[in-house]
Amino acid sequence: MGKSYNNISMAVIRRLPKYHRYLKELLDKEVYRISSKELSVMMGFTASQIRQDLNNFGGFGQQGYGYNVEELYGEIKKILGLNNTYGTVIIGAGNLGQAIANYANFQKYGFNLKALFDVNPKMVGIKISDIPVYDVDELQEFTAKNNIEIGVICTPKEFAQDIADKLVKSGVSSIWNFAPVDLDVPEDIIMENVHLSDSLFILSYLLSNNNEEA
Ligand code: NAI
Repeated sequence: MGKSYNNISMAVIRRLPKYHRYLKELLDKEVYRISSKELSVMMGFTASQIRQDLNNFGGFGQQGYGYNVEELYGEIKKILGLNNTYGTVIIGAGNLGQAIANYANFQKYGFNLKALFDVNPKMVGIKISDIPVYDVDELQEFTAKNNIEIGVICTPKEFAQDIADKLVKSGVSSIWNFAPVDLDVPEDIIMENVHLSDSLFILSYLLSNNNEEA
């Protein structure tokens, strides 16, 4: 195991995926060195915010040199746990479950998708991006036997709690929940809820306020 970063505020952690994204873009463009000022212009954070954020992890910058992009990218990947692999299952192989299964980047970052589960007999037995869809009745046994750590819930909301209970019983440590409902799970289960509509409603707010001002 590497260093532990448990004392870092979630506000900083939630900015790290953005650093990860921009640094990856720089590397793709073969930019290997950047100042905090240049990074701040690109990312829309102040240079002092960037220095503060990165100081949480021991800095990485050098006075008069700036940041070594490759090194910083590597460290942020490590901090985000993206050097690990995680056995993952998706429950609900409908539009959203399939879209996630088809998105190859998740696999690239170590989210090792092992199976999807559904109740619909028409779905059971097919493959999505080469990943099998099984009957949801097999969820617990499969999850327990295959060392699954992440359950991704993409079922209608009425079934989400029952699925979460089954995932917890079969030993997952975390749930990525897309169903629009708050799930009740034990404290040691890591839960990350995603609501695309939250972001859309912010866009709508900005759009409507912008229109009112015009
Ligand atoms: P969908 O109807 O295309 O897919 C749902 C799938 O779940 C179907 O294949 C169905 O057979 C399956 N299913 C139903 N009960 C099940 C059970 N007990 N166990 C296993 N599978 C079961 O719906 P869609 O569009 O894929 O949405 C899925 C969920 O994601 C919904 O709760 C929806 O509200 C939510 N959603 C959330 C978004 C977000 O940003 N968080 C965005 C889009 C959808």
